[in-house]
Amino acid sequence: MKAMVIRGYGAVDVLKYEEVEKPNIKPDQLLVKVHASSVNPIDWKTRKGMLSILTGNKFPLILGFDVAGEVVEVGSQVTRFQVGDAIYGSTSFPGGAYAEFAAIPEKLAAIKPANMNYQQAATVPLAALTALQALRNLGNIKSGQKVLVNGASGGVGIFAVQIAKVLGAEVTGVCSTRNLDFVRSLNADLVIDYTQADFTNGNVQYDIIFDVVAKKNIF
Ligand SMILES: NC(=O)c1ccc[n+]([C@@H]2O[C@H](COP(=O)([O-])OP(=O)(O)OC[C@H]3O[C@@H](n4cnc5c(N)ncnc54)[C@H](OP(=O)(O)O)[C@@H]3O)[C@@H](O)[C@H]2O)c1
Repeated sequence: MKAMVIRGYGAVDVLKYEEVEKPNIKPDQLLVKVHASSVNPIDWKTRKGMLSILTGNKFPLILGFDVAGEVVEVGSQVTRFQVGDAIYGSTSFPGGAYAEFAAIPEKLAAIKPANMNYQQAATVPLAALTALQALRNLGNIKSGQKVLVNGASGGVGIFAVQIAKVLGAEVTGVCSTRNLDFVRSLNADLVIDYTQADFTNGNVQYDIIFDVVAKKNIF
């Protein structure tokens, strides 16, 4: 199969379009024909070697986590999917999505909603799960709480705003001038332009501050 492969860490020119072996799936995995993937910060951080303590120096390495595609083979322990299912989900670390076929653990996959195409579905898994885990699992978000999302126009932030709203929070989104209307369109109650105001200087107190950007000392 064809894949975007790296054989060493570095700038974008280390990415090569090459012929490699199709993955052999484990009993708990699906083999998925990839229709779409997306790029997350972890992909370029891995390419640059910023996560080499985890990835080691085992090359070739195929980057990419997010996948939307069609199941073409199921492992012997898989119970929720069958060949032909349209799914979206994530590979396990360190990736493998930028390829014609990817191995996806059953527990990291879901049936693709019929009202999303493959490209739309491939933008969801990693970023939306990060937002959900931060707000629900770590933040223990409750209806009626005041939630501020710093980085509301970014990959994680757009899901955080929408998830917090669905869970009943009053949401303030922080982003740059050009994205204020976009963040309002996600249903944020209030928006702050970080080029004009510093949310850490205001008098408002929030129950949860989800600082996706992590450039501010909020304490
Ligand atoms: N994407 C994922 O799946 C994922 C998963 C886990 C962890 N993370 C981590 O989360 C961080 C953000 O990822 P992302 O995918 O959301 O990135 P992204 O799509 O590049 O979004 C970055 C966001 O930060 C905002 N921003 C930039 N400079 C800012 C500043 N000085 N003050 C306030 N906001 C500022 C941007 O707003 P404007 O565009 O309006 O300027 C944008 O909303 C990264 O460190 C990434 O490694 C991401």
